[in-house]
Amino acid sequence: MLECTIPQHLRRERSCPVSTPPNWSPPYPAYCARFPKEVDSLVMAVFGAQFASSSLNDGTAISRIKRFMSQGSETVRPSFWEVASVNDKKGALNIAVIAYWPGDESFAGWEEESGFKSWWQSPDRETDGHGWYLEVLHPTLDRFETVFSYNTSPEGAAHLQEHISGEMLEHAYWGSMRDRLAVAQDDDIKAEGTARAAGVSEVPTTSTRIRVAGHKNLCVIRSGQDWSGTVPAERKLYLETMHPVLIEGMNFLRDSGQDIGCYAMNLWDVVDSGTYEANLERTFGLGFFEDLAALEYWSKSHQTHINIFGGFLKYAKKLDNALSLRLFHEVYVLDEGQQFFDCVGSERSIHSYGPLRVDRPA
Ligand code: HEM
Repeated sequence: MLECTIPQHLRRERSCPVSTPPNWSPPYPAYCARFPKEVDSLVMAVFGAQFASSSLNDGTAISRIKRFMSQGSETVRPSFWEVASVNDKKGALNIAVIAYWPGDESFAGWEEESGFKSWWQSPDRETDGHGWYLEVLHPTLDRFETVFSYNTSPEGAAHLQEHISGEMLEHAYWGSMRDRLAVAQDDDIKAEGTARAAGVSEVPTTSTRIRVAGHKNLCVIRSGQDWSGTVPAERKLYLETMHPVLIEGMNFLRDSGQDIGCYAMNLWDVVDSGTYEANLERTFGLGFFEDLAALEYWSKSHQTHINIFGGFLKYAKKLDNALSLRLFHEVYVLDEGQQFFDCVGSERSIHSYGPLRVDRPA
């Protein structure tokens, strides 16, 4: 029996119809994270340090952030965190901790108790000699969805889950992401307003500290790939047929995404949290889009993702759905008050939240 992705307590009468084909039977299984009913929001935060070149990174910045993760009482510390790095389009090294909390209260408690908040707000951050950024997403659970190609161990926000679902119905067709989002039952979740950057006045600052005001229905995707456990034939298939196409698609979004409603995209490596080496065979695309429609548009119109999507169907069929490649994504469609973007060292800081030149059919 296939499960409906939207949990019972978040279901309501639809004014926006689903795209699920009649009598739909997905060609391969997929699962989603199920959170305790009493959890109504979660927090995902990216704590990033940015260096004009990797030789300038002596490890101090990321060690400081890592120390904060274990500070504060156990009830407010993050449920899960990991370290990732990427060289961005300007060639700068970005190294970040990505962490998750089961709601605003524990995150706010941790910010205070660990001392992170006062440390972050200190003017000293402006003279650390490199860029910093803090990106905090705190969606209510009706504005969040996950998909996993496996049901064995959790990734990202699923570390907060009560359990993984059974096989679900709403996947493997265009429009399924929207159908999995509870908020989209009666809301077209179109962007309202545009992202813009401004100097921060409420924090003692020089001009290097910038806060980026997001906007209603900004959409963020973290889409992960883990081929560390693949058997040799499957590894070859993934590395030769899918990974190069993924890189091409991510490079397009990174370099030209602003033409189709993507503010920023980077393909990160999850790195060893002790040595920071990128030898884990795990990557993820972290992208910021004007709204879900912009993300959907890229996924179904750009040849790279069409090839990946179609390739995956063949790949799963060939392996009789016995996949050892692990794919997941988590998608956030944020209300105005559910996003916070701060950066210090503006020249080399954060991704380029620039004006979009949206050029896609309505
Ligand atoms: C959906 C494959 C990377 C964006 C899907 C689906 C597959 C797929 C099979 C259908 C999922 C389902 O509902 O069962 C892959 C593979 C990837 C990859 C194999 C990497 C190797 C990405 C990345 C992005 C992305 C990095 C982000 C920019 C999307 C979107 C959908 C989707 C937006 C939903 C489309 C809709 O619901 O209409 N992908 N994908 N994918 N993927 Fe990917």
